[in-house]
Amino acid sequence: MATDLPTETGAATAEAAGPPAPADGAVRVRGLARRFGDHTVLDGLDLDIAPGEFVALIGESGCGKTTLLRLLAGLDAPDGGDIAAPASRMVVFQEHRLLPWRRVWRNVAIGLRGGDARAAASEALDEVGLSRHVDAWPSTLSGGEAQRVALARALVRQPGLLLLDEPFAALDALTRIKMHGLVRRLVERHRPAVLLVTHDVDEAIQLADRVVAMRGGKLAGEHRVAIDGARDRTGVEFQRLRAALLAELGVTESP
Ligand SMILES: Nc1ncnc2c1ncn2[C@@H]1O[C@H](COP(=O)(O)OP(=O)(O)O)[C@@H](O)[C@H]1O
Ligand SMILES: [Mg+2]
Repeated sequence: MATDLPTETGAATAEAAGPPAPADGAVRVRGLARRFGDHTVLDGLDLDIAPGEFVALIGESGCGKTTLLRLLAGLDAPDGGDIAAPASRMVVFQEHRLLPWRRVWRNVAIGLRGGDARAAASEALDEVGLSRHVDAWPSTLSGGEAQRVALARALVRQPGLLLLDEPFAALDALTRIKMHGLVRRLVERHRPAVLLVTHDVDEAIQLADRVVAMRGGKLAGEHRVAIDGARDRTGVEFQRLRAALLAELGVTESP
């Protein structure tokens, strides 16, 4: 069966072998292990993501977030444990990874098979507010625009699982806020399961249905975000969640 799997650019290929796809479109990870030499990075990690659920994963730098995401994407193989994930998976990395020698729409259309690839790419670019840049070269885009192209490239294939690896970390604060709004709208419309890796606790609470913290190669704790409507950073529940998550990570905030 042909599956859409991301390459190191985040674009899809049809041939690569990856984790098996469960019938219900959920993500199920059990006892996942990954070692590099004698360094155990993932040590029996369990994770579930329901179809259409938005999960944010936080953890300090070097704790193994990208390692987990690469395993879920099928870009790396585990040393132990089981992964089941939707057949169609796409990744957006911290860097946009656009090919500089291809125009924007061709970057979005990479690997698309059949039909009118340009029309599909244009529609996806329209969704991220970049209709004017369909024929532009990547080098003419701002950082935020290039990340929006990377999002369009991921969403054009309607993935069952969208993997986001600190996609906003390199953007300025204002652009990041706009990207949060865009991602929320896109996810509401397309309803993929999402795993967002971030070291920004506020970003996690702002976007996710559930936030999980990673420590010592496992998931240390999970918190459902039960905030209706706008997620105001000054709200009581927001503050309570932030304190709980920072405590999970071993960080204490001074008053
Ligand atoms: N291919 C690799 N070879 C050796 N060590 C690696 C490799 N990939 C990741 N690591 C190590 O695994 C640990 C976790 O890395 P990573 O998953 O990138 O962390 P995070 O994304 O949480 O910052 C780090 O100590 C890193 O140096
Ligand atoms: Mg990382």
